[in-house]
Amino acid sequence: MTLYQPRRAVLYVPASHQKALAKSTQLQPDAIIYDLEDSVAEQMKHEARVNLRKHFQEQHQTVRSPLKAIRINSLATQWGEDDLKLAAELKTEAIVLPKTETPQQVIDAARKLDDYDAPEPLGIWAMIETPRGILNADEIARLAQKSAARLKCFIVGTNDIALSTGVKTTNQRSALLPWMMQIILAARAGGIDVLDGVYNNFQDQEGFKAECEQGAMLGFDGKTLIHPSQIETALNSYSSTAEETAWANQVIAAFNLPENASKGAISLNGSMVEQLHIRQAERVLARAR
Ligand code: COA
Ligand code: MG
Repeated sequence: MTLYQPRRAVLYVPASHQKALAKSTQLQPDAIIYDLEDSVAEQMKHEARVNLRKHFQEQHQTVRSPLKAIRINSLATQWGEDDLKLAAELKTEAIVLPKTETPQQVIDAARKLDDYDAPEPLGIWAMIETPRGILNADEIARLAQKSAARLKCFIVGTNDIALSTGVKTTNQRSALLPWMMQIILAARAGGIDVLDGVYNNFQDQEGFKAECEQGAMLGFDGKTLIHPSQIETALNSYSSTAEETAWANQVIAAFNLPENASKGAISLNGSMVEQLHIRQAERVLARAR
């Protein structure tokens, strides 16, 4: 069993932005998404790929290195396949697949990763950010049950959803809520993680914090970020609280007692806990700061 790796704070770094690439080596979000898509202008697509290869070659993995993913351009574009090939070559943890609308698009990307000999753990994080994608989220998430499909995570692309639907993101995103919940539910049914979209105004720390807390309350596993100044707040909002951590330690200690080894349910501080809480407890501990 692979250990659960949290994705509380997930920073986009445009692969065309040399200073941001350099800066990213000093930052400690849970994951970095090197972007080749929306934040890279068309005339920079090739250069961005060259930058990334160089950047990865210069990196030395440390124990606390963030997970590394590459957001590729859609495979329907002239750049998508070269982007995917690069991710396979660099053995990133994942590719981020933008504007995912159908299960077939995930299957096609997974087959291409196989074609380029991408290692088996190289996953697909699918962005749900169009009306069709939202409507098909359930069917897409079901792919997570098939390991060959490589699907590990959803990312809600709130900027693109706002653009493509006309919905306003004002008033605590109230108009977006039903769609965000629909995507979260689909992710849970499929057994995968799901990350909240970005907060564009990176100078508004207060608004950002409120949105992180809203996202955590809705059940997201973490937030995607555009600026280093957002990392600390996202980590705090999505980390387990001291009480959650204490509970998790107690659950694990209780089930480790020899007298409880063969029990499905036990009593802990007057409440029932079951075997299924062990997995939850492990996730809580993985998300502790
Ligand atoms: N990742 C890593 N470093 C970043 C960064 C990021 N996403 N955004 C900014 N930085 C770095 C800057 O290079 C600068 O580094 P320095 O201290 O070495 O000079 C420092 O953080 C401060 O940056 P700042 O001057 O406040 O911002 P900026 O004007 O350089 O960049 C943006 C502002 C919005 C252009 C930039 O944050 C960005 O490109 N974000 C990501 C956009 C993106 O990926 N969008 C697609 C997904 S929605
Ligand atoms: Mg986009």
